[in-house]
Amino acid sequence: MKKEIVFLAIGLLIISCDHKKEKSVAMLENKIKVISHTQSPLAESIKKGKEVYLDMCVTCHLPNGKGVPKVYPPLANSDYLMEKEVESIKAIKYGMQGEIVVNDIQYNQVMSPLGLENDEVADVMNYIRNSWGNKNIKMITEKEVAAISKN
Ligand code: HEC
Repeated sequence: MKKEIVFLAIGLLIISCDHKKEKSVAMLENKIKVISHTQSPLAESIKKGKEVYLDMCVTCHLPNGKGVPKVYPPLANSDYLMEKEVESIKAIKYGMQGEIVVNDIQYNQVMSPLGLENDEVADVMNYIRNSWGNKNIKMITEKEVAAISKN
């Protein structure tokens, strides 16, 4: 009789432990869902930057970012964009003209100033630096753009 009670107690203990485990696994799964649905600041900026791009840049640099050789330089796989951060921000913020070389092709065209706010410049930079195979996880901030002057 005593033995049976002990077994029963052990059995109950095992069941309740299992139940707790299930509960904590379910809680963990929920947490993972919440985390993966929360966008990182960079991901949010890229999302907003895509809208700016489709509004303001796509006509020249094209949806695939490849531009038109010798007329509109590419952003996809552009050595200029990936290596010259400040100059690229300046181009977007103030416009650009004169001779530049992008992926060994010379351009001497005009990109007019686009009238974007500093946060829009930061967002579109984050978008073009992380699209079409480009990758740069260092986020450009509005503050950084604000600090860059024309000359
Ligand atoms: C009217 C056409 C036009 C539009 C619109 C335009 N660009 Fe440009 N972009 C150019 C041209 C032309 C150049 C090269 C200027 C030169 O030859 O000095 C250039 C150069 C650049 C460069 C530096 C070179 C490179 O390819 O890496 C970047 C970065 C850039 N543009 C990004 C943008 C972004 C972002 C937008 C939208 C916010 C935009 N451009 C809108 C025509 C345009």
